[in-house]
Amino acid sequence: MKIIKTIAALKMLLEPLKRAQQKIALVPTMGALHKGHVSLIAMAKKQADLVVCSIFVNPTQFTDTKDLEKYPRPLEHDIQQLEEAGCDVVFMPSVEEMYPQPETWQINLGAAEFLLEGEFRKGHYQGVTQIVKKLFDAVEPDLAFFGQKDFQQVLMIEKMVEHFNLEVKIVSCPIIRENDGLAMSSRNIHLTAADHEHALVLSKSLEYVRNNFKSKAIEELVSEAKTMINAEPGVALDYFTIVNGETLLPETDKNAPYLVALVAAKVGETRLIDNMLLH
Ligand code: PAF
Repeated sequence: MKIIKTIAALKMLLEPLKRAQQKIALVPTMGALHKGHVSLIAMAKKQADLVVCSIFVNPTQFTDTKDLEKYPRPLEHDIQQLEEAGCDVVFMPSVEEMYPQPETWQINLGAAEFLLEGEFRKGHYQGVTQIVKKLFDAVEPDLAFFGQKDFQQVLMIEKMVEHFNLEVKIVSCPIIRENDGLAMSSRNIHLTAADHEHALVLSKSLEYVRNNFKSKAIEELVSEAKTMINAEPGVALDYFTIVNGETLLPETDKNAPYLVALVAAKVGETRLIDNMLLH
């Protein structure tokens, strides 16, 4: 596995492979890798000839400087995991490499940018799409793999790809869960044992909604899920909603084609998100 730190070196490495028509996959990450990321590498390996994984904690997508400072950075462990997963290239640029000068970036991601996570983390998706565009420019991948756990992020990246008319194919990969149901996240490292127990209410409420989807009305399911979460100690609910997966607007028609239940809550000191497709 090659470790590359500059865009110029990355381009030099990838150019002959592109010329030889090799399919290149990119798995963008902020490090602190877990089994969810490993599953993205495994999916990428199945569909491409060469897998590049980027590790870059992107400052422009953090709306809270404390959150940026405390973001976990277990670099050696990450590299070991990538090696074991069969990743071919790790791209680990510095902040100066990705942002040689401060950038103004404002693209139209549509109304969904300002809903759900966008409401709680203002400007977050401008920062995410900015860095993903820079990574796409550096790697020029045929395919890019993201986890469905960040459902709105995948949608926003698809909007950015549409905006610039890029040729990369975006692949959304299933959420990987702990045995007890907790969605894997780099932030889970901050959960105490008690927080972890309390956090299970998020996946349980989503499961409840999915299991009762046929027999109950959407309003009733949302209300019951909120009651379950609000009854859990140590959990402060930001939202639980069932939406159209394209517009992210709340949906009450169960026959609507693409429904997803999404939840966000603060558990102890850690903000977690999770979701479940309902069809
Ligand atoms: O999901 C993440 O880890 C980040 O938001 C991403 C896509 C790597 C952009 O920094």
